[in-house]
Amino acid sequence: QTKILKINSKSPQISKIRQASKIIKSGNIVAFPTETVYGLGANALDSDSVKKIFVAKGRPSDNPLIIHISDISDLKRLTADIPTTAHKLIRKFWPGPLTLVLKKSKIVPKITTGGINTVAVRMPENKIAKLLIHETGTPLAAPSANISGRPSPTTSGHVFEDMNGKISMIIDGGKTKIGIESTVIDLSRKTPMLLRPGAVTLEQLQKVIGKISIHPSIQERKTKDIHRSPGMKYRHYSPNAKIILIEGSNDKVKDKTLQLLSEFKNQGKKVGILSTTNTRYKSDMTVFLGKKLDMVASNLFKTFREFDVKKIDVILAQGTSRKGLGLGIMNRLGKAAYKKIKIN
Ligand code: TXA
Ligand code: MG
Repeated sequence: QTKILKINSKSPQISKIRQASKIIKSGNIVAFPTETVYGLGANALDSDSVKKIFVAKGRPSDNPLIIHISDISDLKRLTADIPTTAHKLIRKFWPGPLTLVLKKSKIVPKITTGGINTVAVRMPENKIAKLLIHETGTPLAAPSANISGRPSPTTSGHVFEDMNGKISMIIDGGKTKIGIESTVIDLSRKTPMLLRPGAVTLEQLQKVIGKISIHPSIQERKTKDIHRSPGMKYRHYSPNAKIILIEGSNDKVKDKTLQLLSEFKNQGKKVGILSTTNTRYKSDMTVFLGKKLDMVASNLFKTFREFDVKKIDVILAQGTSRKGLGLGIMNRLGKAAYKKIKIN
């Protein structure tokens, strides 16, 4: 049985933070909240601790972890080279939901980076996360705290669903603010490359460092260049239901949704709808995620899990714009989808 420790997210009780630190220092795993999603934290510099993360998640060993720091001096210890682009982005976006991929230093164990020579680092903004890293006195490797392939957890309850019995402790710090994982940008190459879109948007990054190339998987072209972010080749974020992502103008998306709804109902399926407009459908469950993209992001993974609880077979998911936070949302929907339909 995994212990759940409730900590006040606005003013974290330091004695409780220390309880959690102690567990990590002894080589075990503690799940903790960040502003994006919950993470599975372990000492990033200790191979045996990191190994436990891969086991708990059922994660392929070639998919590297993000290292979380609370102090900029840690970045220097973890990396071999910090380009000017990194300094510029750090000044603007840290602490926050931005992960930088840089050349790794020797102190980072191979297992943490999935065997490659770069390391992903981020400084989270969440108070519990910051204090936990600080009190533990070591950088924390922390992937999202879900079983590999499942939607990332945005509450301690989600973590419990996936991790009960597999890790020592879960810190309950309430619902996470952003709801999708951090933006990941690779600064180890000549032209920076966006590997995963998130709450720090492509437009914001471009404003600070100029030219950025975009990983082909985000542009949704087929590609063989999967080694850049090893995580990209696996299906992700998926609830048990099959997601069909529908993109196009509002009217056409609505027509297609109605058509598919009646087809699947005729086949006796339980149909859920993730709606981007406040339309009513005769489905088994319809969820309107919200008008604003930040609402959509913060409710997305939670809603995936709710569809599972209702034993929905098929989710008809209506697409959002790809501007700003929309790029991150569409990326998660695209990766979770079993089928994509674009109507022009
Ligand atoms: O918001 C987040 O980033 C959350 C919270 C807990 O901080 N963490 C998270 O970790 O999403 P994870 O392990 O679920 O996703 C990390 C992503 C993966 O797609 C992985 O392949 C990529 O970052 N990544 C890690 N290290 C990398 C590296 N050296 N080069 C390229 N991609 C890397
Ligand atoms: Mg993940």
